[in-house]
Amino acid sequence: MMGLLVLGLSGVAVLAALLLTVMGIQQIATARSLPAKPGAGAEQSTDAIAGAAPSVHLEGAGMVAVEPGVLLNTLWEHLPNAECQSGECGGCKLRLLEGSVNWIREPVAEINRQTHILACSCEAAGPIRCATV
Ligand code: FES
Repeated sequence: MMGLLVLGLSGVAVLAALLLTVMGIQQIATARSLPAKPGAGAEQSTDAIAGAAPSVHLEGAGMVAVEPGVLLNTLWEHLPNAECQSGECGGCKLRLLEGSVNWIREPVAEINRQTHILACSCEAAGPIRCATV
């Protein structure tokens, strides 16, 4: 008799655990499918929110085919002094004229982040226009 009671309670506990697991998976799937909330991240740009595809216009060179990853992947042939690829040398410094970027690492080189970016440390968040320094 006692064995049946324990067996019954174990079955209920297993069913409850399965139900909670399924509910948790559904919540995670729902959270991942929601669009990012505006203002949720300090680095998020309005271009990224609008879903505009990244594009790069470099003054003097025109539109440049965008490569995945940091801007240096796209602009390497225009930035011959980019040596470290880690934000230290400043050789990939650009003046950001329009648009916004996402910083993927904190720069070590001294720059004014209000006006300049490092191509090795940023990704375009949407269409950008920039110039070599
Ligand atoms: S390549 Fe050196 S700071 Fe970007």
